[in-house]
Amino acid sequence: MLLRLGSVPTVVVSSPEAARDVMRTHDVHCFSRPAMPGPRRLTYEYKDVAFAPYGDHVREMRKLFILELLIMRRVQAAWASREAQVDKLVENLTRAGPNPVALNDHIVSTVDGIIGTVVFGEIYGTEHFKMQFLSMLNEAMDMLGSFSAEDFFPNTAGRLIDWLTGLVARRDRIFKRLDAFFDAVIDQHLNPTLNKPDEGNCRSDLVQAMIELWKDKESADTFVCGINTSAVTVVWAMSEMIQHPRVLKRVQDEIRAVVGGKQRVSRDDVSKFKRLKMVVKETFRMHPPLTLLLPRETIQQVNITGYDVPANTRIIVNAWAISGDPHIWKDPEEFNPERFVRSNTDFNGTHFEFMPFGSGRRICPGMAMAVTNMEFTLANRYTVLTGNYLMG
Ligand code: HEM
Repeated sequence: MLLRLGSVPTVVVSSPEAARDVMRTHDVHCFSRPAMPGPRRLTYEYKDVAFAPYGDHVREMRKLFILELLIMRRVQAAWASREAQVDKLVENLTRAGPNPVALNDHIVSTVDGIIGTVVFGEIYGTEHFKMQFLSMLNEAMDMLGSFSAEDFFPNTAGRLIDWLTGLVARRDRIFKRLDAFFDAVIDQHLNPTLNKPDEGNCRSDLVQAMIELWKDKESADTFVCGINTSAVTVVWAMSEMIQHPRVLKRVQDEIRAVVGGKQRVSRDDVSKFKRLKMVVKETFRMHPPLTLLLPRETIQQVNITGYDVPANTRIIVNAWAISGDPHIWKDPEEFNPERFVRSNTDFNGTHFEFMPFGSGRRICPGMAMAVTNMEFTLANRYTVLTGNYLMG
């Protein structure tokens, strides 16, 4: 579907065939990101990964990101942080007993604790740091998701409207807070009296790796997009299982059969939970957190399912519409994890009917980490606890 959003030509892709053309056949010509003033300001002129136009910077950063997340030291640090945060979650929920609990707050805090510690280091554990970060994260996310006239009228008129509505001032305010925050993080990392270069403290986190690579601060915000997306999916999975007790029971039975009398699911157990994995898949299918993925832009003319699409056209992939399409999925409105029992369809970017993490050169580099965090959190929650929770 071709739309003109303001003065910006935009193609909305809502079929697996068209998605394959964009993200596989012509990936190399559709992998840029459109210029948008909000992300531009908050990412120091696109020094992040997610919103930067494709080029050497994105390639280097993606390489670093994937390598750093995979190295043993980081994998161990991530597991230590995961275990500590999940223990804390279980303890807090257990302490609440039969009283109603606002589950969302607890889950956001857990996921945020895991990713935050891996990215920022031990400093993230301090309550003051965390509160500051969470409030900024919410403000920044809110701003990125809100309407900006310049996104659709990238000219003086658009800029004037954003200025008159106060958006530019708000953006500047948020930017200054983020900037001061990242300065503090980097000072903390560079301070030899606070950091000793041994394993387990801040020196083994990703900010340190980035400081070494870039000698700069602009990329720490690369990770913030992973926190809300993961937390929201855990809450959806729990909510769906509570509404489908038969599914919940099967998952619990499977987990208990694997862990036996152990109090906590261990890291080695997670790969054995076939049913839990199907629940996670079905949750992603029904509730992809980034329903339209992240926008792309063509860098030259391409042909998508027989239609010529010129250079500099914005492309939006409607992943939510595709994974809920009744022509592709039987009873798509039904939460039915068992649909994956005899199917090898996965969200790893090779099946274009199901791609909550995108595909191709811009596929989410945090996918493995996000999925492990979610599976581990869900597995522990369901072995140990049977409480009633308020969703939201
Ligand atoms: C449930 C959790 C998550 C979901 C559903 C998700 C989804 C996505 C999607 C759809 C994209 C755009 C892909 C494309 O354009 O084809 C993306 C990009 C990205 N994600 Fe995630 N993500 C999640 C978690 C994470 C985590 C935990 C991290 C970091 C630790 C992360 C870091 C990134 C980065 C850096 C990009 C930009 C990649 C690029 O533009 O080249 N994400 N994610």
